[in-house]
Amino acid sequence: MAKILVVDDEHSICESLEMFLSEKGHTVHAAGSASEALSSCSRLKPDVVILDIRLPDRSGMEVLEILNTTPTPPKIIMITAFHDMETTIQAMKTGAYDYIHKPLDADEIESAVDRALNVLKEDREAVIQDVPEESCHSDEIIGKCSWMREIFKTIGILCRSRTTALIQGETGTGKELIARVIHRNSPFSAEPMVTLDCSSIVETLIESELFGHEKGAFTGAVASKPGRIEMAGEGTLFLDEIGELPLNMQSKFLGFLERREYTAVGGRRVLHSRCRIIAATNRDLADMVRRGEFRKDLYYRLKVITIQIPSLRERASDIPPLAEHFLKKANRELGTAVCRFQDGVMERLQQHPWTGNVRELENLVTAAVIRSRGKVVLLDEVETLLFGSQSMSGEESSSLSLSHAEREQISKVLSLVRWNKSRAAQLLGITLPTLRSKIKEYGITPSSVTLP
Ligand SMILES: Nc1ncnc2c1ncn2[C@@H]1O[C@H](COP(=O)(O)OP(=O)(O)OP(=O)(O)O)[C@@H](O)[C@H]1O
Ligand SMILES: [Mg+2]
Repeated sequence: MAKILVVDDEHSICESLEMFLSEKGHTVHAAGSASEALSSCSRLKPDVVILDIRLPDRSGMEVLEILNTTPTPPKIIMITAFHDMETTIQAMKTGAYDYIHKPLDADEIESAVDRALNVLKEDREAVIQDVPEESCHSDEIIGKCSWMREIFKTIGILCRSRTTALIQGETGTGKELIARVIHRNSPFSAEPMVTLDCSSIVETLIESELFGHEKGAFTGAVASKPGRIEMAGEGTLFLDEIGELPLNMQSKFLGFLERREYTAVGGRRVLHSRCRIIAATNRDLADMVRRGEFRKDLYYRLKVITIQIPSLRERASDIPPLAEHFLKKANRELGTAVCRFQDGVMERLQQHPWTGNVRELENLVTAAVIRSRGKVVLLDEVETLLFGSQSMSGEESSSLSLSHAEREQISKVLSLVRWNKSRAAQLLGITLPTLRSKIKEYGITPSSVTLP
């Protein structure tokens, strides 16, 4: 049972809401103006305020703003006859819990009040259980299952030497993260770590990217340029998506691995390097070897030490600690204070197949924090997001709703980070150029902010 204050200058609306909500067992009070609303609020401390925007003395928006600065604000549901986007957006931005259009629909009011009370209850419990935020490293690998514990041991062993390592795992399982952690814990961590993504450059350029080139080595080589091996110095060269390395480059790279010598494209001088090589792939290299797509000798050279990261569905026990970790991370990055998951959320997360693995989980938690209008990530919200991701991966998904969701998510994140595009790209898990082209494609501008 909750205390509800209805604020509307239309007497009939107050009366019908009072009747309807008292029937549902709530204690209902009414106010006919902004000043009356404010004094009632400080006296009655209602749980929920149903607030009309157009009031005789001041606007409901002002009341909303004032109430939200109080230490324990009620959940505020705005009601209005205005159907425009501007006011809706403004109200939600100012912290309204919900926004309902007139003429009022009883079911809509009832479900909005129920949801608001649900959030309020969770918020209050959350305050009691609020734990101080622990500091956590952004490069921390979270994992409690025995498989991950074995991986930590292997990382420890790798950190003692310059041994070549191969990291295998599905997309989003943390291959790059592990490579960074290995480098950071190695004796040569002060040296650079350089990445070459073998899938991202055209075949003809891979050789010069890797080994460098001399001036005039090919059309367009106007100056000589060091390769990634040279740039890595005594540090680490991280070869991402090694499975995409073309066969002819595979033999050249094997030559380097065996002798630790190479020459730049168009160069004569023999160069040496003792950088550590960490290769990663989400493909089954053994299978590629069987099919003749990957050189067997290179495969054996690379897999001196192999780290096989299990998919997230194979280690569901790691989902709760990972989700908690990403919740803290999102709060830090977004400046939000969502402090826990509603009961039942973890169980739900543990049932999901997570084809995008840890990255998909991280994105979901971040999205849930962005959409959360309280201190708790609600099960409902998670269901909606999971449903969205399922229909998005389904082939039949309508491109209309997909791009709509994408546009919405991008604008939300942009407004949260105040149009810091590199930050937004990072949070969205896309590259800056991709973000730029999406902003263009969808015509997103700083004023086209949409809220959940
Ligand atoms: N065990 C983990 N603990 C904490 N964060 C993790 C863990 N595993 C992955 N992540 C996070 O998930 C995201 C994806 O990880 P990463 O980029 O390392 O995956 P990947 O295997 O390289 O993926 P891809 O194959 O798509 O390149 C990153 O933000 C990373 O920090
Ligand atoms: Mg990667």
